[in-house]
Amino acid sequence: MTLSAKHLLGIRDLTKEDISLFLQTAGQFKEVLQRPVKKVPSLRDVTIVNLFFENSTRTRISFELAEKRLSADTINFTAQASSVSKGETLLDTVNNILSMKVDMVIMRHSASGAPHFLAKHIPAAIVNAGDGINEHPTQALLDAFSIKEKTGRIEGAKIAIIGDIMHSRVAQSNIYLLKKMGAEVTVCGPPTLIPKYISEALGVRVNYDLKETLEWCDVANVLRIQLERQNQVLFSSLREYNLSYGISKKILDSLHKEIVIMHPGPINRGVELDSDVADSKQSIILQQVENGVAVRMAVLYLLAGRTPDNN
Ligand code: CP
Repeated sequence: MTLSAKHLLGIRDLTKEDISLFLQTAGQFKEVLQRPVKKVPSLRDVTIVNLFFENSTRTRISFELAEKRLSADTINFTAQASSVSKGETLLDTVNNILSMKVDMVIMRHSASGAPHFLAKHIPAAIVNAGDGINEHPTQALLDAFSIKEKTGRIEGAKIAIIGDIMHSRVAQSNIYLLKKMGAEVTVCGPPTLIPKYISEALGVRVNYDLKETLEWCDVANVLRIQLERQNQVLFSSLREYNLSYGISKKILDSLHKEIVIMHPGPINRGVELDSDVADSKQSIILQQVENGVAVRMAVLYLLAGRTPDNN
């Protein structure tokens, strides 16, 4: 089986078969990562540039580690320390890097659509590592992998996505993926942080009541309030937000079941998630981060055109 796409720009462009292939291949790489020798020669002679125009901890380190585990040659580019600060355009920057014979570009950018723009102009394979408020496809893949690993299924699972849905590329990619794979999705948060027509557009349920949503779901994926992307006041205060939508041990203990807690990170402790929940055994936040390496190895491996037959 091979991918239907040359790039990974978003989950919206993928088929159900593409998603299954990414998840199945990630499972194989997770096994590799349990071995004493975690490095494989799969991407020897493949050169990858990590272009980060926006800050990142997990995604960036995870891609770098995935590239090293696959024996690729890697170059790291940070916009703040580059000639972008002298006015060089995105296309000029990337074309200059590609002239040095780079095969694949991993890009994070604050502008929605930046990787799609690049894909129209350059020959290298592109992986979107998060573009503005649009998509974060590898986060959705690692979230799905973690849900399946923890609960045994995606199809038929009840997943709640809670918090700042409006400004979240993680929410958008998760919704595309979970709906394609047959999960039920409810979004929950203050009305000002949930797009008005999301039910009609994306086929999710909306519930503004946190307790009801938690009673309904098997898994709660809790999102950060993205203050840096909000240009107007959308709720009264962080304290108020925590009181209405923060996940506390008290609210979890009041449920009639134990649910799985996820968060893509970085966490605002005491705002969307209390520390004793983030660090509890219900939380799989660090497993998500661990799975990110195997998932990104799968993405790089498959986009490089490697299949078990030609490697
Ligand atoms: N989840 C995520 O994208 O985290 P970073 O911003 O640290 O990469």
